[in-house]
Amino acid sequence: MNRIENLLAAMTVEEKIGQLNMVAAGYAVTGPVLASGTAEGIRAGRIGSLLNLWGAQEIHAMQKIAVEKTRLSIPLLAGFDVLHGHKTIFPIPLAEAACFEPRLWEASARAAAIEAAADGISMTFAPMLDIARDPRWGRIAEGAGEDPWVVTQFAKAKVRGFQGGGLPEGLASAGAVAATAKHFCAYGAALAGRDYASADVSERLLHEVYLPPFAAAVAAGCAAIMPAFNDIAGIPMTAHIPLLRDWLRRKAGFDGVIVSDYNAVAELIRHGIAGDLVEAAAAALRAGVDIDMMSGAYSQGLAPAIARGLVSIEAINAAVRRVLKLKERLGLFDDPYRRGSAGASAPNVSAARRDLAREAGRRSIVLLTNDHVLPLSPELRRIALIGPLADARADMLGPWAMAGNASDPVTIREGLAAALPDVEIVFATGVTIAGEDTSGIAAAREICRDADLVLLCLGEAASMSGEAASRANPGLPGAQNALAEAIFELEKPVVVLISSGRPLMISTIAAKAQALVATWFLGVEAGNAIADVLTGTFNPTGRLPVTWPRDVGQVPIFFAERPSGRPADPDNHYTSKYLDMPIEPLFPFGHGLSYSRFGLSKPRINKKDFKRGDELTIEVDVINEGAAAGEETVFLFARDIVASVTRPLLELKGVGKIALAPGEGGTICFRLAAEALTFPGSDLQPVFEPGEFLLSAGPSADPHGLLTVKVRALPG
Ligand code: NOJ
Repeated sequence: MNRIENLLAAMTVEEKIGQLNMVAAGYAVTGPVLASGTAEGIRAGRIGSLLNLWGAQEIHAMQKIAVEKTRLSIPLLAGFDVLHGHKTIFPIPLAEAACFEPRLWEASARAAAIEAAADGISMTFAPMLDIARDPRWGRIAEGAGEDPWVVTQFAKAKVRGFQGGGLPEGLASAGAVAATAKHFCAYGAALAGRDYASADVSERLLHEVYLPPFAAAVAAGCAAIMPAFNDIAGIPMTAHIPLLRDWLRRKAGFDGVIVSDYNAVAELIRHGIAGDLVEAAAAALRAGVDIDMMSGAYSQGLAPAIARGLVSIEAINAAVRRVLKLKERLGLFDDPYRRGSAGASAPNVSAARRDLAREAGRRSIVLLTNDHVLPLSPELRRIALIGPLADARADMLGPWAMAGNASDPVTIREGLAAALPDVEIVFATGVTIAGEDTSGIAAAREICRDADLVLLCLGEAASMSGEAASRANPGLPGAQNALAEAIFELEKPVVVLISSGRPLMISTIAAKAQALVATWFLGVEAGNAIADVLTGTFNPTGRLPVTWPRDVGQVPIFFAERPSGRPADPDNHYTSKYLDMPIEPLFPFGHGLSYSRFGLSKPRINKKDFKRGDELTIEVDVINEGAAAGEETVFLFARDIVASVTRPLLELKGVGKIALAPGEGGTICFRLAAEALTFPGSDLQPVFEPGEFLLSAGPSADPHGLLTVKVRALPG
């Protein structure tokens, strides 16, 4: 027998249940209930894994109890939310998505894993793969935006980065951590954008939109999956047999660990599908949830559930086997102190990781509008830096930075001062981020009078994004609109920088600013990255990974809409539109300007007719018509014109990038397997249907900028 079977044979039922119990060690608070007596619990074999503890010494102290003071010496798993960096905080995932760069996505996950592992952590609760199409939902900040193709690429890159893909020892490496793809699934479809609310999505939407990123994570070898808090059409995900057991385990072949979300097993009682902890524990275990994070339902409820005949010991054994297997894959049995041992430790914030954070930061910035004011002219002598986000150090970290240091980030003010030593920068906040006090506006306005240009730094506090941070009106909070109005009245050139974890409703600001820049929350190098873009040291390349609405009334809004039988026509009353607002967003998915201009050719294809098994190549010539070296991003979309099920007007199938010197031309080549044009048919099984497809290439999902070519799928 192997190690795991030997252990299983030796374990008591209590010890088995202990392996399924994850407890917060109390360092960080990420949920509504807290544990006490962790050390005693470990010693008694009642706790198999921890969360919210970091620091090699601290984790090793707990590990020592597990390894030296328990009967079977089974090491602990130590989980932590490492969403966008551990010590070196990187841009929030939504910002990083704007890079459209799997190489960077992987590199930042790798760097985060190295730091987390050096802190003794063996498991991260990331990547977050929730598709989000509603900016009211604060957790839109934690994922890679609205599109399943993008989130699928993000999933692969992040799993590889966290788990040490490419390292000789893989997941067992001292610098690798187990990834947890979350939140499975449709959590982003929360009713009215309210966190933790119910999601009622169709089977089709699950198969077309919400499941593919998880399938990709599983295929990439992701060690763990976390079910979402929500129910889907009445079945809470923590007890969702059709999705957890039938789809995830059986269809997608996932044999890793399913770890519940924080307290979610006990919350099955409030969902109204379990009468007590015993029923809750049984419902989650039967669906395949291996680890109960922090609810105590497994430790209190599983033994009585066996007695009541609600669960079998075989089901418990299967869950324990998966947990022990993960500990084995991580190398914890061979060396429980490998992560965080002296030789493996990395300094807290190394220069190389800061460089990477700056690179990711500047590539995440999206230049939304620019009426010839950026890059900043070398002639500028005096800049007025105004607004509550201009010197907001801790906010630059964004919503998930528990082990990050609030004093680490470079503020916008500091970044600019370093980049422009010969320019006088006068500064005033004017208002606070969310306060209603307008008494500082007059002074802020005053210091703008002699300035050549105003940089207005507006947005949200970091705490307004992330978990439990839904906003019914995701506009500029507090008195920031009043500040902006007062500044615009001066009729100076105004560049507005928006720090946020979501697209904010800022149509009026967008119309009045000479330039508008989405700077999200960029992490420790925020100020330097922003200065790089403003000064033109770096020519912006970021593109929106999410449609930016004009107004919250347009939500949910995304590019992959299905066609209407009555498409919007301003001259025809009975069409799909609003009476009080255009249907177009403020900025489409993929939008983002550069300091160069690029011309694109009509796509060239290697064949017009194709069959299943063929590969299409689609070439797009790009020319840099501007005066600066720059990088263009081209999106490839497909539309199945006539199919047995209506297909979205645009489906993203590829993203290409090309760096070009002024006047230089080059070609982006997309390779598209015919199979990429299959879709879930009327029975939700994948079908490949003969007929015509429109392939479109362009700089964004704006239909006006797309260049199209028709191809035809032949039968067979
Ligand atoms: C609740 C969040 O939903 C989840 O994303 C996180 O991993 C856990 N808390 C642990 O902090």
